[in-house]
Amino acid sequence: MTFGDAPGHALLDDAERMSRDELRELQLERLRWTLRHAYDNVPHYRRAFDAAGVHPEDCRELADLARFPTTSKADLRDNYPYGMFAVPADQVRRIHASSGTTGRPTVVGYTQRDLDTWAAVMARSIRAAGARPGDRLHNAYGYGLFTGGLGAHYGAERLGCTVIPVSGGMTPRQVQLITDFQPRVIMVTPSYMLTVIDEFEKQGLDPRKSSLEIGIFGAEPWTEQMRLEMEERAGIHAVDIYGLSEVMGPGVAQECVETKDGLHIWEDHFYPEIVDPATGEPVADGEQGELVFTSLTKQAMPVIRYRTRDLTRLLPGTARPGMRRMEKITGRSDDMIILRGVNLFPTQIEEIILRTPGLAPHFQLVLTTRGRMDHLIVQVEARPDCPVERHGPAAAEVAATVKDTIGTSVEVIVVEPETLARSAGKIQRLIDHRGR
Ligand code: DLL
Repeated sequence: MTFGDAPGHALLDDAERMSRDELRELQLERLRWTLRHAYDNVPHYRRAFDAAGVHPEDCRELADLARFPTTSKADLRDNYPYGMFAVPADQVRRIHASSGTTGRPTVVGYTQRDLDTWAAVMARSIRAAGARPGDRLHNAYGYGLFTGGLGAHYGAERLGCTVIPVSGGMTPRQVQLITDFQPRVIMVTPSYMLTVIDEFEKQGLDPRKSSLEIGIFGAEPWTEQMRLEMEERAGIHAVDIYGLSEVMGPGVAQECVETKDGLHIWEDHFYPEIVDPATGEPVADGEQGELVFTSLTKQAMPVIRYRTRDLTRLLPGTARPGMRRMEKITGRSDDMIILRGVNLFPTQIEEIILRTPGLAPHFQLVLTTRGRMDHLIVQVEARPDCPVERHGPAAAEVAATVKDTIGTSVEVIVVEPETLARSAGKIQRLIDHRGR
C-alpha cells in the first residue's frame, strides 16, 4: 500500500513540484489578473479599491497586495445574492451557500472552469491524503448547498476513485455500507466520524477490522489528540482537509499523509496571508493570526483578501517544498470564549478531555452568567466502560487542568454515554445562554 508521494513523484501536479520562486512568479501573474477582473466586474471591489486609493496596476509585487482592502463576510451578505459575481449570470454553472447562524446565507458561484479547478485541487488533496485511482471512497460529507459533499465527490471522481455518495446521517446505515462496500477511504467531519466509530462498536463490530485505511477530516476544528483517538480506534490514517465556501469549498489546503504536519495550501490557486485580528495588519510567516485568502484563478466570484476569522500561522513547505503550510486551526475568532479576561478555545478543552482517562470525546460547552460573571460549563460524556465512581474524579481532573494550563475556572459535568446531541455534519460546540 502506498502512503504519500516523494516531492518529485510523477503523480504530482506541476504546481506541486514548483520551486518557491517559480510559484511566486505564477502567483504574481495570477494576482494581477484577479485584481483587474474584480475591479472591472464587481462594483463592490471598484468602490472599495477607489476608496482606499489603490488601483490594480499598483500591484507590482506580491507584497503590494497588503495595500488593498480586505473583504469580510458582511460585504458578501450586503451584496446578497449575486452582487459579488464577476461574470454574466449565464456563465454561472453552480451555486453553493453557507447557512450562517443568523440572517442571510452567503452565496457563492462557479463557472465551468471554476468547477474544473475545484475538482483538480480536490483530487490533489485526496491524493495527498494517500488515496489512489481505483480506491473506493465513502463520502459522508453532506450533499446540497454545503460545499463538502459535492466538492469531495467531484474531486474523488477526478482522481479516479469509485465514489459512494452517502452524505451525512442514518448512522447504522453508514456502518452497514462501509462493511458491505469495503471502501478504503472515508471523507466526513471528525465529529461525525466519532459517531460512526461508536456505532461500529455498538453493533459489536471492531472498526479496526473495517476496510478503511484513510480518513480525510475537516469542516470543523479538531486536535492532534483527536487524531490519535481516531487513528487508534479505527486503525486508519487521519488527515486534515481545510476550505471554506467563500474561497472555493474543501480543497484549499490539505495535510499530506507522509508528514501529517499541518496543511499545505494549494498556493497556485489561493494566496494566503496572516493578519493581526484586531488591526488587520499583516504579520510575518510563523506568527499566529487570522488567515486571509485571495483567490488567484476564480472567475465567477473572485475574493480579494477575504478575512476567514480562522486562527493559525504559516509555515514553510515540507512534503511539497514550494507550498507553504498552515498549522491546524486553533479555532475561529468568533468561537473564542473570553472568560473573565482569559481567552479560551473549544479545541483546548478537547485536548484536555481526550487526555483524561474515562472521558469520551463527546462534549459541549455552555456559556451562562452567574451573578455578573460569565460562567462556562463543560459537559462531557463518560466512556461506556468508565465506572460511575470515576465520573466525579474525572470532572475534577479536567477542571484542574483547565485552571493550570489555561488559567481560568470552569465547571465540569460528566454525563452518561450517549446523552449529548450528535451532529451528522459540523458540530456546534458552544451554546451561549448569556443574557437570557
Ligand atoms: O466547511 C468546507 C469544507 C468541507 C472543508 C469539507 C473541509 C471539508 P464552510 O461551510 O464555508 O466550508 O465553512 C468554512 O469551516 O472558515 C473554518 O472555520 C471551518 N473549517 C473548515 N475546514 C476546517 C479544518 C467548509 N480542517 C469554515 N479545520 C472555515 C478547522 C475548518 N476548521
